[in-house]
Amino acid sequence: MKFKPLIIGNWKLNLFREEAFNLIEFIVKNTPASFKGDIAVAPVMVLLQSIAEKVHGSRIQVSAQNIFHMQNGAYTGESSVRHIKELGVSMAIVGHSERKQYFGETLKHVCLKIKACLLEQVVPVVCIGEKKIESAEIVLNKQLDYILTTISDAQFHNIIIAYEPIWAIGKKVKIDISRTEKIFKLLRKKIGNNTRLLYGGSVTPKNAKDLAQILNINGFLVGSASLSPSMFIEIIKAYL
Ligand code: 13P
Repeated sequence: MKFKPLIIGNWKLNLFREEAFNLIEFIVKNTPASFKGDIAVAPVMVLLQSIAEKVHGSRIQVSAQNIFHMQNGAYTGESSVRHIKELGVSMAIVGHSERKQYFGETLKHVCLKIKACLLEQVVPVVCIGEKKIESAEIVLNKQLDYILTTISDAQFHNIIIAYEPIWAIGKKVKIDISRTEKIFKLLRKKIGNNTRLLYGGSVTPKNAKDLAQILNINGFLVGSASLSPSMFIEIIKAYL
């Protein structure tokens, strides 16, 4: 595989301060030295700085769950890429389906956020995915066509695409490995060989090994299982 695997724990709106500190301390201590990939956690915005301080000097990176595309101005309640970068954050999840579902984000917003990240050399982890009733092929093509217009050829290695089928998020569904493999083949064909591709949606220690075998999957974006210290470490171990 050309890319090192990357495992991101998306903590969503979970873990209060002490809980988040306990989890990150466990991850720092228990990540196996034999794992040669990258690891990141995405805590709530207000904990970014303290989590970044806790992982300082370790191999764990910190990601934001969202950012606003403007750098500053009259945008009450928002945080820009520059703000999070100053805290030691190196990545930002962009366009998660929960942002689209609950906060009205559109592909247009997603593109603005990607551009804002690239300007500050913060890596955008761009989420794509289809609803249960939709055709994955049609929706993913459409989403990528739109997104890719904002990215120059030279920037493809600076972004990460996370395929998260919406019907698999937070549902603990059984993942069809051969179907997933097919979709990643299509994604790889479309996006080329310079961009890391992650899978997200119902990743558990149980299915991580099979998913890690899929050639075009370069790691995971993990939700609920990333809140369990032992499960998150087990998922990392799928790449040993
Ligand atoms: P689950 O792992 O809980 O299905 O969530 C996936 C996700 O949304 C990660 O961003």
